Amino acid sequence: MAVRQVSKFDLPDLGVGVGFRVPHYRHVVETRPEMDWFEVLSENFMVEGGSPLYHLDHLSAHYPVVPHGVSLSLGGDGEPEHLRRLIALCRRVNAPWVSDHLCFVGAGGVQTHDLLPLPRTRAVRDHVVRRIRDVTDAIGIPFAVENPSTYVAHVDDEMPEWAFLAEIAEAADCAILLDVNNIVVSGVNHGFEPMDYLAGIPAERVVQIHLAGHTTLPSGFRIDTHDHPVPDPVWALYAAAIRRIGPVSTLVEWDDNIPTWERLAEEAATARRIRAESLS
Ligand SMILES: [Fe+2]
Repeated sequence: MAVRQVSKFDLPDLGVGVGFRVPHYRHVVETRPEMDWFEVLSENFMVEGGSPLYHLDHLSAHYPVVPHGVSLSLGGDGEPEHLRRLIALCRRVNAPWVSDHLCFVGAGGVQTHDLLPLPRTRAVRDHVVRRIRDVTDAIGIPFAVENPSTYVAHVDDEMPEWAFLAEIAEAADCAILLDVNNIVVSGVNHGFEPMDYLAGIPAERVVQIHLAGHTTLPSGFRIDTHDHPVPDPVWALYAAAIRRIGPVSTLVEWDDNIPTWERLAEEAATARRIRAESLS
């Protein structure tokens, strides 16, 4: 019998959705294919007008839409203009929640456009908690923090990533977007057990799960490329996550070598089947 946790956030289970990506914009807004919900990359729609907002407005008129960002830089300082644009986007699509990564993207005025791993120290934890509280207060909807894929660790790390994430979520009273592909990728790269990670996460705070594929280098090192189908170890961890967390909104990310809409919808259908089986 599956253990079902009740989310502490009063948020809907949206089912299984996919990322809204350029090759599918026209097909989706013109034919409205069957899909439970869509995630949009926030930064692509934090603009004043034009084609992105035309497609976004058509999308959000017919599907639930959740913005997901890559440049909030929770480890860095907040940018008021970035936050203002993010708030406008959330209101435009009536977002139930909004998410970004547990990382920093630059320092000293340099923006790397990469999701860089934070030193897992108590001081950084407290800084990120303050940032998330400020963002949540400003946006006025639940904020979900996502575990990134990482390739290096800091010598001054004081705790494993799952403890860092859990302590931040508890202290900031925020939600978690659990990326099970990122857990598999980082698990191989750093030598931890994905099931230990899953067991260390406060299940009642998980409001969304990410699924994706990744690349395995000849050395065995994993890179989070989002350019492959979801591999078996990620499906297996997803099933375990659903058993532990319950029926939580799930999103398939596929951002490079983007397949046809039909192939992407197939991947979502597989997630839907595994999710249902894991709950029975
Ligand atoms: Fe993700």
